[in-house]
Order: sequence, then C-alpha cells, then structure tokens
Amino acid sequence: MCGIIAYKGKGNAASIALDGLKRLEYRGYDSWGIAISSDSRIGIYKHVGRVGNAEIPAAMAGKPARLAIAHTRWATHGGISEKNAHPHLDCSGKIALAHNGIVENYQELKKRLQSQNHKFASESDTEVIVHLVENYMNLGVKKAVQKAVSELKGRSAIVVLTSNGEIVAARKGSPLIVGYGDDEYFIASDIPAFLQHTSRVMYLDDNEMVSLEQEPRFYSMATGKEIRKRIVQIDWKVEAAEKGSYRHFLIKEIMEQKDTLWRAANQDEQKLVKVAEQINSAYGTFLVGCGTAGKVCMTGEYFFAKIAKKHVNYCVASEFPNYISFLTPKTLMIPVSQSGETADVLEAINAAKKRKVRIISLLNVFGSTMMRVSDDFFMVNAGIEKAVVSTKATTAQLSVLLLLAYASAGNLNEGKRLLLDTASAVNDMLNPRYEEHIRKLAEKLYEKEHIYIIGRSLNYPIALEASIKIQETSYIHAEGFAGGELKHGPIALISHDTPCIVLAANDESKDEIISNAMEVKARGAYIIGIAPDNNEVFDYWIKVPDAGNASPIVNIIPVQILAYHLAVLKGLDPDMPRNLAKSVTVK
Ligand code: G6P
Repeated sequence: MCGIIAYKGKGNAASIALDGLKRLEYRGYDSWGIAISSDSRIGIYKHVGRVGNAEIPAAMAGKPARLAIAHTRWATHGGISEKNAHPHLDCSGKIALAHNGIVENYQELKKRLQSQNHKFASESDTEVIVHLVENYMNLGVKKAVQKAVSELKGRSAIVVLTSNGEIVAARKGSPLIVGYGDDEYFIASDIPAFLQHTSRVMYLDDNEMVSLEQEPRFYSMATGKEIRKRIVQIDWKVEAAEKGSYRHFLIKEIMEQKDTLWRAANQDEQKLVKVAEQINSAYGTFLVGCGTAGKVCMTGEYFFAKIAKKHVNYCVASEFPNYISFLTPKTLMIPVSQSGETADVLEAINAAKKRKVRIISLLNVFGSTMMRVSDDFFMVNAGIEKAVVSTKATTAQLSVLLLLAYASAGNLNEGKRLLLDTASAVNDMLNPRYEEHIRKLAEKLYEKEHIYIIGRSLNYPIALEASIKIQETSYIHAEGFAGGELKHGPIALISHDTPCIVLAANDESKDEIISNAMEVKARGAYIIGIAPDNNEVFDYWIKVPDAGNASPIVNIIPVQILAYHLAVLKGLDPDMPRNLAKSVTVK
C-alpha cells in the first residue's frame, strides 16, 4: 500500500526511480511522483493516475541527477489529485518527502505547524512530516528525521531527500528495505523495486533509520546511535517478478499453481509435527488474516474440525480486539498473510504478544515484518505474487494449513500424499483447453450484474473467497453463501438466468449442495457446477479433480481463471483493480 523508492548512485536517478515505481505499482496506483536533487535544488514531478508506461519527465531528462525519491500512492487522506501526490515539499522547497502509512495525529500536528506559519499545499496527512523535518533541520537531516518521526502516531515509512544531496529513510511500522548495488544504493518498500539491479539487501527494523552516505549507515531512532546490520543475499529471480510471455501477472500466477502446490507441500515435516503438537496442547488457537487470507483462515478452521476433530478459531484480523480477553500465555496465534505486512494483522499480533501468546505465521514474503515479529513461521513458497488479486499464495496457504490439520490428527503422511496427488492433478488440469472452457463461460457471464456462489462444509469459505475473486476483477456484484443458508433469505435474490456457481465436492455435503442447486434452478437460476462429476442440475460444468479434503484448493482455481477472463472481457486491468492495493499497510 503506497510504494516508495529512493536511489543514490552512478545511474540516471530519475529513470531508475521511475522504473522502480513501475515495479511497485501493485502497492497503489492513484497517482505518482518523483523528486530529484541536483545543483543544490529539488526538482519535482507529480502525475495523477498510474505510472503505467510513463516516460521520465522532460524536465528531468536533461542533466541526469544522481539522487531521487519516488512514490506511487494509494490515497488515504486527501483526494486523488496532483497536490496530494507525493513527494511533498517543505516551505523552503529544499526538502522532499515520500511516505507510506498514516499519520494518525496529523490534525493536531497540522494545527501546531500552521500556528508556526508553515504553509500547507495539500490535504495529505503526509505533509505534516516534511514540515516537522523542516522545523528541526538546524540539527542536521538525520536528527531532524529522528525527531520528526518520534512525534508521529501510527505506522509509517518515510524517505527524505534534501537539496544538499542527502537521503535519509526511517521505518516505524511500515516496510523499508535497502538494496546494495555496485556503487549504488536503493531504499524501497519492497524488493522487486530494485531486484533487477541487486539481490543484496538489508532489512530495516522498526525504529531504525538509514542514511545514504558513502555507503548506507544505519541508526537507532531511540538512541540516535549507529548500528551494524547484516547484508542478506536473497535468491529471488528477476523473471519471477516479470510477466514473461503472459499478458497479465494474474494469469501467470494462476498458471504457476502447477508448481507452487509442490513447493508449498515441501515443508519441514518435523516442524509441522512440532507446531501441530503445539496446536493440540494450546489453550485456544487463532487463525488470523485479512481479505483472501482471512478466507484461508476460515477454511483452516474447517480443515481442523473435519480432519483433526479439533476446534481452532478463525478471526478477521481487524475484529481480533474482540477476542483479546480470551488470550493467555498458552494461546497460539497463526497469522496468515501473503505480504507479511498487513497492518490489521500486525496490530492483532502486537495485541497477542502483549499477552505472551505464541505467534507462528504462514507467510510468503521472506524478511517481512511478520516474519520478524513471529516466534516461528512457515514460508508457503508461492514465489513473488504481484497481481493485487491473490491466487497462488492462497492455494499455497491452504496447502500448509491442510498439512497442519493432518499433522494435528497424527496423519501427516496421509496429508502429504493427498497434497502431492492434488498438485499433480492441478498440473494436468491447468492446460489451454481448460482455460478456454472457462473463458467461454466468462463470455456468458461478463455482462451480468450479479453472480452467486454456494458451497457447503470445506467449500463454504471457498464460496466466500470465490466472491472476492469475482468482485475484485470484474466489479460484478458477487456473493458467496453457505448452501444451507440460501433458503433463509438470499434465495429471494434469484430470478431468471441469475448465475449461481455451485461448488460441489465429492464429500458428505454433496447431496445437500446439489439439492440447494436444484432449489435455485427451480427459481430460474443458471447453474454453473464446479465438481468432479457432471450432474443434470448443472447448465455449465467445470470439471475439477476429486481431491477429497483438498477440494478447497482445486475448487478455487477455476473461479480464479473465470475472474481473470471476466476482467479481460470487460476491458478491465486484472492486475490492478480499482480502489485496491496489495500489501495493505494501513488500518
Ligand atoms: C489486500 C489484497 C488481498 C489480500 C489482503 C491480505 O486486501 O488485495 O488480496 O488477501 O490484502 O493481504 P496479505 O498480504 O496479508 O495476505
């Protein structure tokens, strides 16, 4: 959510920063901006809309600057406009600042700064930070940043550029990573921003600052003292962050599920067993996540109930405060997050840690904040996921939770066998013919106003997840329901030709979900069956492998493909749906 990049080095700073922004666009795409420092001046350019294929602004193309900061925005405070786009300038125009986060006390700070005659040019909360830095600039930029950040409430990551050619960045809750190139340095919200230049990184921890001098120097914001940190060599491949021969990241990532399920299954078995024992002996286990990861958590609750006969709780992270009084040092929390940066989940973790709850996360991004604050973690190994709409991370998370449920039941081997068979079946399923069959369905559906999805048992949470997929990509009103709940209200929404997707696994709920399909068909609905076997009630059948307890994994994949093609047919960008962003670092 909001992407930042800073560059200092021998290259053309504006061009490198712009390129970095293009690779960070998934974090926000309302507006963008670049500031450069050269000849003791700050040059600035802002633009409303996506970075897309933007060229380096003409005014910056002449004499290349060696220092730049840039930002791509997901608006929180203040509308989507040029003046609210980052970087923001102080009154003197000698300090530029880009920010990811929210300044929760900005109104109070703004009043104070205005009473000190600071002139504000935007409605953004961020602008208070640059004026605070300006206030303390007589102490030097590092001290100024340290003091300014100490006055902020909420989660933030900032990067400051001065007309003297200084770059200082600070982290207080939102991610920042330093990249070490060859005589060039980067600071960014996420590694793909500079991965084509270097894979040597240093992670900034909370309340740390970095100053790009001869080389990066790190400081504690609590003490102001310099600290030593370790460079980490990451093994991400540049191609993993590119579209390759695919038109969009979304379809690339959907197709990558041919491999990612194998990789997700490849977990340390001893660790799975150890964590399963901890779940079995915990005084309450909470699966916590947001959005799609929240639906994965809900599926996890069903996995544990069905496979391990064990009750675990699932909770949407933003609602976790309601459960705080149940937490004890014997409680276990399993946060599930692709990015490992989602603010609501981090808040839930903080609250749990205060009550000495043990935290074992399921993550996809190595080095993320959640990894650093957890007692232990599993990597779901889906690889870089760039489309805002989560797909391969989802099925990888489901896979690890499935393994944990089997481990909790004392049957890890059975779970692993099931998962490997499922991975192999998904590999066979994801072929061009299959995609075309679903694209044809998308042709029938893309002009519809409503799509309903029903599922029972393990596939009830997947019906909810399916609705998120369709909403995000196509902006069609999609809603998922438990099959049994239809007759208690939602059936009133069904009329002639209303599309209804029925997730019908070959399990104990099959006959009932088929009955529910009959009930809606009797009221005119157009029934799309996602099932291992065809059934007379289906008007359109999408075959999936019979995956037993792994049915949630195979059932969501055709819906992902459908969601992709609905977006393409509607002329929408499947990778960057309106109003959304990946890595939601604000509450
Ligand atoms: C955003 C994304 C969703 C994602 C959710 C949680 O809303 O658009 O796709 O599921 O954040 O993200 P996380 O990184 O914690 O899994």
